[in-house]
Formats: sequence, structure tokens, C-alpha cells
Amino acid sequence: MIQIMGYIKSAALEKTGFVVLDSYDQELDPQEWLDIEYNDWKSSGDTRFAPLASFAGDIECNGFWNHKPPRTDKDGVWIPSQVEKAPNLTRRAQEPGANVGRCRVIELQPNTYADCLYNLHQDDNNRLNPDGTGWVVRGFFNLTDDKDSFFVLRENRTDPSVEYRIALPAGAQLIVDTQRLWHAATHPGREPRYCLITSWTSGPELDAYIEKYHGTSDVPNVEVAQDVLDAGQAEQARRLAARAAYYAAKGQAEVTAMSEA
Ligand SMILES: [Fe+2]
Repeated sequence: MIQIMGYIKSAALEKTGFVVLDSYDQELDPQEWLDIEYNDWKSSGDTRFAPLASFAGDIECNGFWNHKPPRTDKDGVWIPSQVEKAPNLTRRAQEPGANVGRCRVIELQPNTYADCLYNLHQDDNNRLNPDGTGWVVRGFFNLTDDKDSFFVLRENRTDPSVEYRIALPAGAQLIVDTQRLWHAATHPGREPRYCLITSWTSGPELDAYIEKYHGTSDVPNVEVAQDVLDAGQAEQARRLAARAAYYAAKGQAEVTAMSEA
């Protein structure tokens, strides 16, 4: 555990901003993510979300700071009807014993590597978070067995020189400082991808959990052909330029970050 800029952070995340934990045996659990209730929520890509914990225990996904009274992404209220349908997902989100803010399952429709690069964004996890308390990071538990899919993490949105590509088979477990790292998922195929995303507060509980499950960022990058990487990079540049031109023509400030808020 280290303290930088007033916030308590995990030393394990300092170097790269993420860790991959031991894989979870997802096959043993029922597919609870198909039973819970989803609502439309704009995020990067074509998505729906099913919250398990929200601002006040309602089935909605808005940032806690957009409610009254506003608060940071901590002390999420579990939603009884959802928890009842997804006891294993709930248990897993609570296992670290760290404070949970928002907790939800994302449903992501298929996309390409180029889409993913365009979708790269940083999360707004620490708005209103008081200095001296734990930095909010996110857990990602992949639920579906997406053998050809991978998470893309970058320090800089448009610079491919630092790009981590993390495989997303069923049971893959990541913890990511998503306010630091630009992130999105590449998800080829025909079926939607499901992933449990939990906001956790950094501190001794989360550190112990990372240690218990051997968190490491020393994992192989998913291999992607160089021509696909180059084409994706070019397409990202083209789409970002097109969007900037669109906002310039309207005389509006560009919305630069597609945070899932
Ligand atoms: Fe995000």
C-alpha cells in the first residue's frame, strides 16, 4: 500500500496500472448474468448494464455524484431483486472486503479492434473522493468464454507504444486503475460479452485480495497481426479527426472522454 497525492493506492498497481489475478472457475457457476435485469446505459461501444449495487439500491447506473446528495463512487447499495438472482456474482464482488461502489454486469455487443481503439476512455471513478482516503479502482471478471476477445489498456489514448492486451476467457479476473489507463475491449464474434465490473476502494483489504490471488501485470500480450494493429491505429486517428471536425463545425467544445460515468 502506498500513498500518493493524498490517496491510498495499491503498490501492486503502481507500475502498470493493472494486475491480472488467478483465473476463476467460471464453469462451476450458473449463468446468473442472463437472469438479472438490464437497462440501457451509454458507454463506450454498444452496451447495456445490469446493476447489482447502485446509488440507492434502484436499477439504474448513473454516477453517484449525479444524485442528491452527490457522493463519490463508494458505499453502493445492493439491489435486493438483483442480488437474489445473482448470489455468486454478489459474493465475488464482496469477497475482497473492500468498499464497493457501483457494481454491475456489462453486456457488450461484438466489435473490432479499430472500434475498441476508438472506444478507449478513462473512467471517472474518483470524483468527490476525499483526499487521504482510498483511490477507487475497478475489478473486471469476465463471465462469458470470449476466447478471441481482449482488453486493451493504454497509458495514452493515441500512442500504441504502451498497449497491454489482456485475454478474456471465462474466469479472467483483472483489477485496473481505469481512471489512469485508457481502456476498452475488443470483442469479435457473434454473441455479446458479459463481464462483472466492480468499483473497489484501495486499501489493505484490496491489497490482501490481490496478493491472495497472485495479482501480476507480468502476463503475455495477446498477439495481433501487425497489419491489424496498424489498420486499427489508422482508423482510430480517422474517426477521432472526423469527430473533432464535427464538433468544430458545430462550434462546440468536443466531448473528449467517453467515460461510462
Ligand atoms: Fe470504463
